[in-house]
Amino acid sequence: MNTSHLLLFLPLLFILRLSSALQIGERCNPSGGNSCDTGLVCGTCGFCSKIKPTDPKSKENGLVFNKYSWLTTHNSYAKEGGSLLGPANQIDSIGAQLNNGVRGLMLDMYDFDGNIWLCHSAGTCYNFTAFEPAEDALTTIQKFLEVNPTEIITIFIEDYVQSTDGLTKVFNAAGLKDYMFPLASMPKNGEDWPLISDMITKNQRLIVFTSKRAKEASEGIAYVWNYVVENQYGNDKSNGGMVAGECPNRAESSPMNDTKKSLVLMNYFPTNPNATESCLDNSTPLTNMLDTCHKLSGNRWANFIAVDFYKNGDGYGTAFATNVANGELVCGCKNIDYCKVNGTFGSCNLPPPSPPRAQSIPLSPPLSTTDDNGSDMTGKSSDMLLLVFIQGVLMLALLP
Ligand SMILES: *[C@@H]1O[C@H](CO)[C@@H](O)[C@H](O)[C@H]1NC(C)=O
Ligand SMILES: *[C@@H]1O[C@H](CO)[C@@H](O)[C@H](O)[C@H]1NC(C)=O
Ligand SMILES: *[C@@H]1O[C@H](CO)[C@@H](O)[C@H](O)[C@H]1NC(C)=O
Ligand SMILES: *[C@@H]1O[C@H](CO)[C@@H](O)[C@H](O)[C@H]1NC(C)=O
Ligand SMILES: *[C@@H]1O[C@H](CO)[C@@H](O)[C@H](O)[C@H]1NC(C)=O
Repeated sequence: MNTSHLLLFLPLLFILRLSSALQIGERCNPSGGNSCDTGLVCGTCGFCSKIKPTDPKSKENGLVFNKYSWLTTHNSYAKEGGSLLGPANQIDSIGAQLNNGVRGLMLDMYDFDGNIWLCHSAGTCYNFTAFEPAEDALTTIQKFLEVNPTEIITIFIEDYVQSTDGLTKVFNAAGLKDYMFPLASMPKNGEDWPLISDMITKNQRLIVFTSKRAKEASEGIAYVWNYVVENQYGNDKSNGGMVAGECPNRAESSPMNDTKKSLVLMNYFPTNPNATESCLDNSTPLTNMLDTCHKLSGNRWANFIAVDFYKNGDGYGTAFATNVANGELVCGCKNIDYCKVNGTFGSCNLPPPSPPRAQSIPLSPPLSTTDDNGSDMTGKSSDMLLLVFIQGVLMLALLP
């Protein structure tokens, strides 16, 4: 074997090495270290997963705000272990969520303890359902906006605050006044929102919606259902929540196909948060519902995709669904990853081959080939084979 043969072998070796890591959607062992390919994590559901959606601005930043889709966390503040009795909807903090590309936050705000708190309660906040003072979370958001000058965040307040100017005070206290997108610039008759590039230039990068209609007049904070249509949350079949093929509006919202509201919010989470269940929900059913809601919302893709346990799923989870919506919105391709940078609408890169989805989703961590100490042997054994192969090739090459 001469040197040119060896040169032919090297790229092949490289490809072999790359393919030894597990790909998106392949099973992995969450407690056995990360054997997934670069950029993927082994999620708690036991699949190599992409947690962070592709930033749609990286492909095209010249569109209006309602031509983008943003991953949104339901009860973003309700982190596991965050409150004595308040149920958890998420695994990590708002700061971590923002770093992972979440750009829509749903926050329940209450008067409590002489201040405004984020609380997971039913109308009244108690010390056993309180998570944190709203100002703390809002300060995290302010810091993120300051450090990331091209990012835009939307907050949906489930508003139980009754104290006079309570919301205004807490947003100001957190230093968010200068970032607020002005109410007067919000389109009220189905017009487009401004270009995101203009929102960024003007530093109007925080959109805040409240569920209390009166706050629009009293504090200048937008009443959400004047601007957004939203489907039924929860999994009560009798009102159409999480029913395959259906996407009814929640009672407070206009019908999903009311195009006088320029933004579409899709909820997809059960009434009672359930981490195990989210492994199933945040998978094929989520992208199916995205499709259903698109059809039933006047052929509009959701601008906000709201989920529990956003990190959970079968690998093709919440980031994937967001990428699908952004692909359709930004460039007319099946996934934002197929959009060309500043490309014309409808011209797509060829999708890279991806492994098939898993047939079924284990509701407990999957069995995997681990040794007694829990490390993943799949990677090790293929590394070993590769080593033997390289040695063989080198020996051949060195033969006279
Ligand atoms: C919660 O509030 C009650 C009174 O309303 C008080 O007795 C109790 O100590 C408080 N618990 C905590 C953990 O602050
Ligand atoms: C809009 O959706 C409603 C159901 O919410 C349906 O009855 C109506 O026909 C739809 N209108 C149009 C124009 O598609
Ligand atoms: C969570 O979901 C799993 C799977 O669907 C189910 O077996 C379990 O009973 C649920 N837990 C709760 C507390 O509802
Ligand atoms: C895409 O267009 C924007 C302006 O619309 C420009 O700032 C950016 O540099 C362009 N990107 C590439 C890769 O050409
Ligand atoms: C597991 O780890 C222990 C100590 O870390 C070591 O003594 C033992 O040999 C390991 N077992 C295997 C199968 O690698």
